[in-house]
Order: sequence, then structure tokens, then C-alpha cells
Amino acid sequence: MELLKIENIEKYYGNKSSLTKALDDVSFTVNKGEFVAIMGASGSGKTTLLNCISTIDRVTAGHIYLEDTDITKLKGKELNKFRRDKLGFIFQDFNLLDTLTAYENIALSLSIQKTPAKKIETAVTTVAEQLGITDVLKKYPYQMSGGQKQRVASARAIVTSPKIVLADEPTGALDSKSSKMLLERFNYLNQEHDTTIMMVTHDSFSASYASRVIFIKDGKLFNEISRGNSSRKEFFDKIIDVVTLLGGDVSDAL
Ligand SMILES: Nc1ncnc2c1ncn2[C@@H]1O[C@H](COP(=O)(O)OP(=O)(O)O)[C@@H](O)[C@H]1O
Ligand SMILES: [Mg+2]
Repeated sequence: MELLKIENIEKYYGNKSSLTKALDDVSFTVNKGEFVAIMGASGSGKTTLLNCISTIDRVTAGHIYLEDTDITKLKGKELNKFRRDKLGFIFQDFNLLDTLTAYENIALSLSIQKTPAKKIETAVTTVAEQLGITDVLKKYPYQMSGGQKQRVASARAIVTSPKIVLADEPTGALDSKSSKMLLERFNYLNQEHDTTIMMVTHDSFSASYASRVIFIKDGKLFNEISRGNSSRKEFFDKIIDVVTLLGGDVSDAL
């Protein structure tokens, strides 16, 4: 079943004298329960694409349909409801609230949804355990490492069990052990809860957890490959081949 339909989207930044075409006629669809990775060199438009889908940024032209609703047209209450109820977003720069502890940051969206306190506590401690951040729950962002902040940001995004998780370089600041924990968690949500995941990454290992990888170059779709029945390792090798074709500059993005 088709969940997301991206139709001819364009995103320009700047004005006539200095125009950047960050996205140039991008179209693709994502089915419910897919795990899609988006790869591309630094500046190719990955963050812009994710920000347009999350409605953080507005498209210049084109449409994005989520189950028949054109989310590029949402305003006010409807827009807030979409962001709050359907979406878990992991920002490239984490975006934690500095005056809240890790626990409070993770609990915030559940509080906004008026979840009972006891349920919040169970949900926060469970997700913290799964991502290996139990010992930082009482800390403030300035007291945490980059990798810890990134995992708190991921915990905050997935604690509400959103329909769609949009993650911008979620393993960028993580060591391999923490990366694996997060990717396994994504895999679990995807397999067991049918959560649809779109993850931007420059890392072929992270991308190999996805069921499909979309490559973008200079704001345009360049290629896409699906995992099919191949193993994660076989898919990893295929991804490496396309990365090489792209000129190898994908892997030193960020
Ligand atoms: N707010 C902005 N104003 C002007 N240009 C921007 C802005 N955000 C991104 N860009 C430009 O759009 C292009 C795509 O950026 P981005 O989506 O962040 O790429 P990526 O995430 O793939 O590194 C780049 O050329 C970048 O400089
Ligand atoms: Mg980016």
C-alpha cells in the first residue's frame, strides 16, 4: 500500500541573483512499512528532501501526498496534528531542548499527547534501555557526548510509536556498537510495528539495513536499488558499487 507519494517536487533557495536548486523535479513513492535509505554527497539535497516531507520546510513546487492528503497544503491545526501524531523526526543537529534533561526531552512529546505519567515512565525507560542511554537520563544536553545526544534525539522520535520515522544522519555521531543498537531498533519497529522509515545516511553499513536505497545527486534522483531477498551483507556490497559509481564522495559527506 502506498503511504507517501512525492510528486515533481522542487525546492529553490535564495533569489534570482543567487539561486540554489536544492531539489530538482524529484518524484518517488514509499509503501507502508518500507525502510528507505537516502544517500548522496554533501549538498546533494538529502536534508532538504527530508525537511520537505516533514513539513519543516516548504516545497517551491510539486506535491507530497501522505495517504491522499497533500501535506504541502496543510496549515495551522492540521499541520500540527500531522507533525505530532504521525511523525517522528530525528534532526541532523539533534535539536534537543537545553533546559530539559534527557528524560524530559524524550518524555516531552508524550506529555503533549497527554499520556499518563506512569505510562510515560515505562515508555521512556524502555526506549532508553534499547538505545543504551539509561545512565544519561538525568543529564542535560551540555553534559552529554554527541553520540549520547543523538541517541536521546532518536529515543524522543520513536517513543511515540509514530507511523513514519524520518531520520537525518541518525548514526552520524555514533560508534559502531551504538549504531548497531539504533539500526536494530529501526529494524524491529519496521518489521514488528510496520513503521515506515526514511533515513538519510552517508554510511553504506547503515544503509544496508534498509529495504531500498535511493541515491540523489545535485538535487535529482540518480539511482535506486532494492534489497529483495539478498542478505544484508550482499546488499551492502551492492550499495558500495553504486557509491563508487557516484564518485565515492558519498562516504565522506556530512
Ligand atoms: N536555508 C538554506 N538557504 C540557502 N541554501 C540552502 C539552505 N539549505 C540548504 N541549502 C543549499 O541546498 C543544497 C542542498 O542542501 P542540503 O539539503 O542540506 O544537502 P545535504 O543534506 O545532502 O548535505 C546545498 O547546496 C545547500 O547549500
Ligand atoms: Mg544534510
